[in-house]
Amino acid sequence: MSPFLLTRTLPADATDAALRADVLSGLTKQPKTLPPKWFYDARGSDLFEEITRLDEYYPTRAEREILIARAGEIAALSGARTLIELGSGSSEKTRHLLDALPALHTYVPVDVSESALAGAAEALLAERPGLSVHALVADFTHALELPESPGPRLVVFLGGTLGNLLPAERAEFLRSVRARLSPGDGLLLGTDLVKDEATLVAAYEDAAGVTAAFNKNVLAVVNRELGADFPLDDFAHVALWDPEHEWMEMRLRARRALTVKIRELDLVVQFEQGEELRTEISAKFRERRVREELAAAGLRLDQWWTDEAGRFALSLATAD
Ligand code: SAH
Ligand code: AVI
Repeated sequence: MSPFLLTRTLPADATDAALRADVLSGLTKQPKTLPPKWFYDARGSDLFEEITRLDEYYPTRAEREILIARAGEIAALSGARTLIELGSGSSEKTRHLLDALPALHTYVPVDVSESALAGAAEALLAERPGLSVHALVADFTHALELPESPGPRLVVFLGGTLGNLLPAERAEFLRSVRARLSPGDGLLLGTDLVKDEATLVAAYEDAAGVTAAFNKNVLAVVNRELGADFPLDDFAHVALWDPEHEWMEMRLRARRALTVKIRELDLVVQFEQGEELRTEISAKFRERRVREELAAAGLRLDQWWTDEAGRFALSLATAD
């Protein structure tokens, strides 16, 4: 068997239908919203990788620091033969885990971004010709079908991507992960932590404007996929800290009153001057909240590791 398989678990038109439904519901309500998963076409995935290298964007470096320090412990505790990574992107940090797992049989990266999966698989297979990689183009929030592979399995969800889901979506997502775990399997979860507002805002409002370009990319995706005419330059990038919900928000603010046509939906959307469209939340956590959200899904927090500076946490959880 080839050591590399790529499976699209969504029917060919499912992404299209899901984008249509999200754009229709998100742009016809007040306040307007779009879900963050639509950032990640090939350009969005490249921009995200650029963000991870910015001085201001600490989460990737902090999580890598924990992975390097704890990979041996994680490997020993999980004994994983299959590593399933949700929202795997470039799989760049995951290499530290793959290297630490001598008995690993199969790596299953799961992502909506086919370009990210293809790039990651190419790099991994060049470095590790013996590894079996079964990539899934799939939405991890929708009835994920995982391939048959030997246990124990470790489900890995890095980067703080859990924080991009709203609280109710997080609860449902964690329950669905729990439902897929057998005795002996585990979940390794990366969460960004609550910290001072200046550090948080700087991470989402970098001086070079890469995050602004990433934010506006969602409009470029809607323009291309649904024949819309969003004028990208007429929207300003906004990043703000919401202390009540303890999450960062990214928004796009209309610089002037605008009328946008979305041809494929036969929809006309009005923006008032200054009106904001929410494109992402990025929740920041405390240990107690992670423990409680895991417990509510039937998962037990067994290990909690942070980087030296206490900016980011990795949790290892098992089924209760
Ligand atoms: N885990 C990597 C990438 C984080 S960026 C890291 O830590 O650096 C978030 C990744 O999740 C992107 O690659 C994006 O395409 C993917 N993603 C976002 N929403 C998704 C969804 N609903 N289903 C599957 N993948 C998703
Ligand atoms: C993928 N996710 C955890 C990133 C975050 O920090 O919430 C996405 C991102 N948004 C702006 N910068 C990076």
